[in-house]
Amino acid sequence: MRFEIPIGVSVAKTNCAETVETGAAIADYLKAYTAFKYIGSYDTINISCPNAFGGQPFVDAERLSELLIVLNAQRNNKPMFLKLSPDLTQDQLRDIATVAKEQRVDGLIVSNLTKKHDFGDGGLSGKSVEPSALKHLRYLAQEFSGDFVLISCGGVFSGEDAYERIRNGASLVQLATGMIFKGPQLIGQINRDLAKLLRSDGYSNISDAIGADL
Ligand SMILES: Cc1cc2nc3c(=O)[nH]c(=O)nc-3n(C[C@H](O)[C@H](O)[C@H](O)COP(=O)(O)O)c2cc1C
Repeated sequence: MRFEIPIGVSVAKTNCAETVETGAAIADYLKAYTAFKYIGSYDTINISCPNAFGGQPFVDAERLSELLIVLNAQRNNKPMFLKLSPDLTQDQLRDIATVAKEQRVDGLIVSNLTKKHDFGDGGLSGKSVEPSALKHLRYLAQEFSGDFVLISCGGVFSGEDAYERIRNGASLVQLATGMIFKGPQLIGQINRDLAKLLRSDGYSNISDAIGADL
């Protein structure tokens, strides 16, 4: 099904004890992935839900490879993105990106909620994610240059924030918390401010600014 604007489908593992075992978890992802095979413009495979029963098993490169092989067998021509945790080590990030490249993942979304904080058990969004999101973005842009579309997410509240992510290698920017604090008009504001920032730095096209700070 095609929509007037791009619609992304995001698939995560069902949050329950029955999907903890690897085979059951993969079957669970596959069921949702297949149900949306002909719906939307791109798919995100979310392996970084911070509250899922049994943790984040597909951070492990071997398990991730198993999952992506199964999903790829059902893949049509929609781009596939992988959504990552900001709490990964650099080695984990490298191993995941290597598997993602082997399995023809088109883009990496960096990143989901962080569990590295002192406020209890849940995941935190917004500015708490920003330092890791930026650090991981820069690492991926430098080490896997040209292999992925990089989508930066976590703590984007303004045109300046979005511009910083673009200059550090992001082709696309996502946000959630910024809109909760500032309202839906934030998107238009960011677009207008981005245009000003690009013009003041002498860019005629946003793609020329991608990676300018690397
Ligand atoms: C209440 C809440 C629910 C969320 N649910 C999901 C989800 O279901 N799937 C997902 O991939 N990310 C989910 N996220 C993570 C966001 O999509 C985003 O990756 C994260 O909040 C960092 O971006 P931000 O700082 O702009 O919010 C959720 C975030 C919040 C605050």
